[in-house]
Amino acid sequence: MPSSPTITRQPPVRTTLEPSNHPYLSGAWTPLHEEVDVDALDVIEGEIPADIDGIYLRNTENQVHQPLGRHHPFDGDAMIHQVGISGGMASYRNRFVRTQCFEAEQVAGRSLWGGLMDPAGTSERPGFGAHGGLKDTGSTDIIVHAGVAYATLYQCGEAWMLDPETLENLGKAPWGPLDGISAHPKVDEATGELMFFNYSKHAPYMHYGVVDRAGRLAHYVPVPLPGPRLPHDMAITKNWSILNDMPLFWDEDLLQRDIHAARLHEGLPTRFALIPRHGGPEDIRWFEAEPTFVLHWTNAWEETAEDGSVEVVLEGYHQSNPMPQPLEEFGQYAHMMAYVDEHSFECRLHRWRFNLATGETREERLNERIVEFGTINPRFAMRPSRYVWSTTTKPGWFLFNGYVRHDTQTGEEQVYELPEGVYASESPMVPRQGGTDEDDGYLVTLLIDENSGSSECAILDASDITKGPICRLALPHKICSGTHSTWVERSQLEADRAFHRARFAA
Ligand SMILES: [Fe+2]
Repeated sequence: MPSSPTITRQPPVRTTLEPSNHPYLSGAWTPLHEEVDVDALDVIEGEIPADIDGIYLRNTENQVHQPLGRHHPFDGDAMIHQVGISGGMASYRNRFVRTQCFEAEQVAGRSLWGGLMDPAGTSERPGFGAHGGLKDTGSTDIIVHAGVAYATLYQCGEAWMLDPETLENLGKAPWGPLDGISAHPKVDEATGELMFFNYSKHAPYMHYGVVDRAGRLAHYVPVPLPGPRLPHDMAITKNWSILNDMPLFWDEDLLQRDIHAARLHEGLPTRFALIPRHGGPEDIRWFEAEPTFVLHWTNAWEETAEDGSVEVVLEGYHQSNPMPQPLEEFGQYAHMMAYVDEHSFECRLHRWRFNLATGETREERLNERIVEFGTINPRFAMRPSRYVWSTTTKPGWFLFNGYVRHDTQTGEEQVYELPEGVYASESPMVPRQGGTDEDDGYLVTLLIDENSGSSECAILDASDITKGPICRLALPHKICSGTHSTWVERSQLEADRAFHRARFAA
């Protein structure tokens, strides 16, 4: 099938960014500013599976203007890449997320906000997020809830809405609370609810909320913490939401001088807050575990023992060294490079068990490899799951260079390494239409090939990743790397549309 023409969106985004040898403004992290539409992508190799029907969304970090200070990879402006796959065909489009800060800098024609590593006062306009001085970019996460895609920022900004099919920007979520929302809200497809949290530098330091399927803020309660913390992700089970208070957080003395420096606080445990989905602060069950920091959870569920006691099981990536030494070989970037290098903070697949009867926590390592940014079969979310597909990274760099499929029952693993100079995006597991086995499906990703200066959409067989991509599709331009991705089934979007039609007809 020949490709259809690439239609470039006009007018182009205004940019003042100059070529740079900054490690996260060059190579696979070279920002892209072009926005295009392609109705039918060219197949380079293989066939597009006919039993996939949905949309892949990838959030990337694309600095638009010359930074005011020192650039950090998480400072970039959000650009969403979309690949729609249906009937053995694939379409592509990409759009910036037009946050109020993005629009303000487009009008100004230059940067107005400093970044994560810049001193207080760098920003020329009031800042946003838990940090307080940042641009609200929405450039961390992307999820779909009730037919709307939400781009969110890890430091807590607005939830920026896009139409997942057209990528039309729809503004900020009307339900967004004053302290914003963190990246990594979680959706329960069975109830249509979205669970989220935020964190801030003022008491009670964290809130938890639920948005119903109609897009209304149905629940919003404080989760009091001892002080400002830096949680990144949350997990959900059928009855519980799991929040956390980890010992890596801003140094309190430096914070008094408006300096934001994360420090591991020796002697403090990791604490988990289990809150009933619609519970209040008085219902929280706190559990303690060994000190660590965790960026991402992969799944959580409830298990009932023969004696009727319930354990909540949580899986994610435990860090052995949450405050790594600078990577001196990177010179002026030594500190920044270490804090985004998985091999420096040493993250491994791990399981925690919280016994609701005894209040005790048990934990165990599931695999010795340095891995993160994993995915599970979404049909097994909040249920006991066996398989996790993790990504590996190039040592020293935030670049995904391969995959590991973990069988957490047997300990067996499959490994696939991408060719040198080729880097993946976060790669959701897409269950095969009609499939029932947990590993019956695909991994969908976007690749950046530094050798050819191009990008592809690649599809892997989730049951055997060692084969490498079974289908490769040419993208019309080389994309910039970023953080998170998601997949939404077209059947889910249709169900959400039907729900909204019925709601408005009622
Ligand atoms: Fe994340």
